[in-house]
Amino acid sequence: MKKTLTTLAVLALSAGIANAQQIPAYLDKNKPLDERVEDALSRMTTEEKVAIIHAQSKFGSPGVKRLGIPEVWTDDGPHGVRPEVYWDEWEQAGWTNDSCVAFPALTCLAASWNPDVAYLYGKNIGEEARYRNKHVLLGPGVNILRTPLCGRNFEYMGEDPYLAGVMCVPYIQGLQSNGVAACVKHYCLNNQEVNRHTTNVKVDDRTLYELYLPAFKAAVDGGAWTVMGAYNLYKDQHNCHNEYTLNGILKGEWGFDGALVSDWGGTHDTDQAITNGLDMEFGSWTNGLSKGASNAYDNYYLAQPYLQAIKDGRVGTKELDDKARRVLKLIFRTAMNPDRPWGSMLSPEHYAAARQIGDEGIVLLQNNGGLLPIKGSPKKILVVGENAVKMMTVGGGSSSLKVQREVSPLQGLIDAAPEGCEVVYARGYVGDIGGEYNGVTSGQNLADDRTPAELIADAVAKAKDADYVIFVGGLNKASHQDCEDSDRAGLELPYGQDEVISALAAANPNLVVVNISGNPVAMPWVAQVPAIVQAWYLGSEAGNSIADVLYGRVCPSGKLPMTFPVKLSDVAAHSFGELSYPGIPRNDGSKIVDQEYLEGLYVGYKWNDKQKIKPLFPFGHGLSYTTFEYGKLTADKSEVNADDTVTFTIPVTNTGSVAGSEIVQLYISDDKASVDRPAKELKGFAKVNLAPGETKDVTITIGKDALSFFDPDKHQWVAEPGTFTASAAASADDIRSTCKFKLK
Ligand code: BGC
Repeated sequence: MKKTLTTLAVLALSAGIANAQQIPAYLDKNKPLDERVEDALSRMTTEEKVAIIHAQSKFGSPGVKRLGIPEVWTDDGPHGVRPEVYWDEWEQAGWTNDSCVAFPALTCLAASWNPDVAYLYGKNIGEEARYRNKHVLLGPGVNILRTPLCGRNFEYMGEDPYLAGVMCVPYIQGLQSNGVAACVKHYCLNNQEVNRHTTNVKVDDRTLYELYLPAFKAAVDGGAWTVMGAYNLYKDQHNCHNEYTLNGILKGEWGFDGALVSDWGGTHDTDQAITNGLDMEFGSWTNGLSKGASNAYDNYYLAQPYLQAIKDGRVGTKELDDKARRVLKLIFRTAMNPDRPWGSMLSPEHYAAARQIGDEGIVLLQNNGGLLPIKGSPKKILVVGENAVKMMTVGGGSSSLKVQREVSPLQGLIDAAPEGCEVVYARGYVGDIGGEYNGVTSGQNLADDRTPAELIADAVAKAKDADYVIFVGGLNKASHQDCEDSDRAGLELPYGQDEVISALAAANPNLVVVNISGNPVAMPWVAQVPAIVQAWYLGSEAGNSIADVLYGRVCPSGKLPMTFPVKLSDVAAHSFGELSYPGIPRNDGSKIVDQEYLEGLYVGYKWNDKQKIKPLFPFGHGLSYTTFEYGKLTADKSEVNADDTVTFTIPVTNTGSVAGSEIVQLYISDDKASVDRPAKELKGFAKVNLAPGETKDVTITIGKDALSFFDPDKHQWVAEPGTFTASAAASADDIRSTCKFKLK
C-alpha cells in the first residue's frame, strides 16, 4: 500500500523527528495532557522555552515555530472582544471585521444572581473570542468592591466573595468550552485604581482568606486556565511576582495548574519574575492602556535578561521548565485543542444573550405607588439626560470596545413606545462629550453650549405636560468616573445631575430615574423620586433591555451585588483615615504607598450590620412588578456533624398579578464564636420563577465551609461546634424567616 505522509508527520519531519510516521507524543491528542507537555518540553531548547514565556507583540506570545506549536493570542475582556491593534502599538489596526457584541458589564451579570446566565455570558463571549482566534480572554474580574470610588468596580462582581465566586465559575466554564482560556483578574488585593502600580496592601490573614481570595479560589477550583497577577503589591512584592500569593497560595495551597499571566506592565524584576510564580510576561514598558515602547520584547524581564542569567550560571532551569510547562499546557488546552469549536461573531444569539443578561441584571431600586411599568396609553414620554444617548462601550480603559451596534436607552424607548406615544428628548446636563478610546471613536457629537440653567429650563418645560419623565444619567467611562487607572472623586453624581433630577421631580410627579453606572452613587433626591432603576452598563442591547423593564415586557428580577451607601463616610474603607484609603506614601525615596485594610472583614453589608448603618439600598435589594411572600424556613437536620450538609427549604409564593423571579438569599450567623465574626454572611442563594399565585419550595444546601472562619494561627478553616442561625432573606436588610441548627 502506498504510504502518504500525514500533516502531522510532515510537521514531525520538519521538526527533525526521526520516525516521522509515528506521531510524536505532543501532537497526539489521545495522549494525556501532561505526557504531551513533557514530550514537547523535552524537544525545546532553552531559547525556545524563554521565548514562549514572554510577549512578542502587545497581546501575543510566539509559540515554537520549529515544532509547529502556535502563538498564543490574548485579548480583553471582560465584556466583549477588544478590537485589533497593530503588532507593536496601541493604535487601531484598522480592521473592518473586528467589531463585537458588547455584553453587559460584570456588575450587571452579578446582579442577575443567576449562574445559568453567567454560563450563557461565558459561552457567548467565548464564541466571539474563538471566532476571532483568541486563545485567552482577559477576564472575568473578581476583585471585591471595597470602596465605591474604585474606577474598575464595573468590571467586577460586587462586594460579596460568595456571590462573586458562584457567579464567576459558570462564566469561566462557558468561555472555556470554546477552547478559549479565561484569565481571572486581578489577583489579588487590587481594590482601587489610584496608585495601582505602587500601593502595598496590608491586610490580616483572616480578611485575606475570607474576603479577598474566595472568588479567585472558586475560579481556580472551577478550572480557570489562566490567572492575571495584579499591579499592586502585597508584603512589599508586586503581585505579578509574589512569593506569598503566587507560589504560596495560588500554586501551593490551591494547586493551580494553569499559567499566571502578568498584568500589562506589571513585571518589575527579573529575579522575582523567575522565582516568584510568574509564567507569562506581557506589556512590560507599556502602561497597559495606551503608551508603550517599541520592540521592547527582548528586554522583557523574562527575555534576554533571563537567558543571560541562565547562561551565566546565575540561575538554573527548574523554574523555566515549570513556566514553559504551564504555557504549553495553555496552548494544548486552547490553540492546539483539535476539539475546539469554530465560534461565531455578531450572531443574533449573541445579541439575544446580551439582552437577556441585561434584562436579568437591571435592578428596580424603588417603585413608589407602582409607577413602573409604564402603563395606560401615554401620549408623551420625556427622556432626559446625557446617558440616554451617550455610547458607553467606548472608554473605561482596557475593557473599551468597538461594537457593531449599541442601542441607546433613548432609541430603545422610542422603538418600543406604546402606539400613539411620542417620545421626546431633552439633554438636561452636559457631562463628558468625549467619545474616543485608543483610536476607537463613538462618532457622536455631544457638544452643547447651553448653560446648566438653560438645559434645566428646557427639560422642565418639556416635562410639564409629559405623562412620564425618564431621567437617564449616572456615571460614564471617562477618567475619574467608571474608568481604569483612576478613582472617582466622590460618591455624588457628577455634572450637576442632582439639580436636574430635583427640578424634574418638582415639575412632574411621574419621574423615573435610570442610573447608569458600575458603582453606587449618592441619591440625595431619593425621597422626591418615585421610581429608581439601576441599569449598569448594558452593552450592545442597552436600550432594548431598559425598554424591556420600563415598559413591563420583562419583570425586573435583579438584585444589588453591592451596598448603596447614603454617604461615603458610611463606607468602612473610608472610616479609618488615609492609611485605609487611599494609602500613605512611604517617604523613603521609593514610590511605595502603604495602605492597610483597617476595616478587616467588615466590608459592605457586614460593616452596616456591625455599625448599625442604614444604607440607601442594601446589598441584595431589588424589587419586582410582583410581590413575594416567604413561608417558614426549615432545615433538614437540627444537628449536624462537621462533614454533613444541611438543606434548607422555604416556600415562596408569588402574591402579585404577574409572573416574576425572586432571588432568595441565605445568610448564616454563628451565634457564639471564639473570634469576632460578621453578624451574618451570604452562603447560598437561589433564583426562582413563579407564576401569579404559584408557590414553590426553594431549597439551598450548605456544607461545613459555610460555617467556617479562617484561623490564621492554625492556617486552616475552622467550624466551631455550637448553634448557628440561618436566615432566608430578600436582601441583607430584609430577613423573612430564620431557623437554628447545631454543629456537633
Ligand atoms: C489592565 C488589564 C488588561 C490589560 C491588557 C491592563 O492595563 O489592568 O485588566 O487586561 O491592561 O489590556
